[in-house]
Amino acid sequence: SMQWIKAIARADVPEEDVIAVEAGGREIAFYGVDGEVYATDNLCTHGNARLCDGFLTGHEIECPLHQGRFDVRDGRALCSPLRDNIATYPVRIEDGMVFVAL
Ligand code: FES
Repeated sequence: SMQWIKAIARADVPEEDVIAVEAGGREIAFYGVDGEVYATDNLCTHGNARLCDGFLTGHEIECPLHQGRFDVRDGRALCSPLRDNIATYPVRIEDGMVFVAL
């Protein structure tokens, strides 16, 4: 069942960029876009690469290894070589902290 995990201070989520932290024993990537925070798995669905090492443009995170792109809002794989979407997680802000539902 879903659990809200306190993951990172809201102020530590960079605007127009990505940061990864461990939450609930997993690596989760947090993205700051237009004042909103989004969360996905940090490991690419295509290979052994971390999305926190990639490049965020608008709502699209580009994997650093083969340049696959995901939409951070819904995890949709947007181009080859990606075949599988990436998991996304609900985010809640409370008392200056970001909680993620895992
Ligand atoms: Fe991410 Fe290949 S490992 S696109």
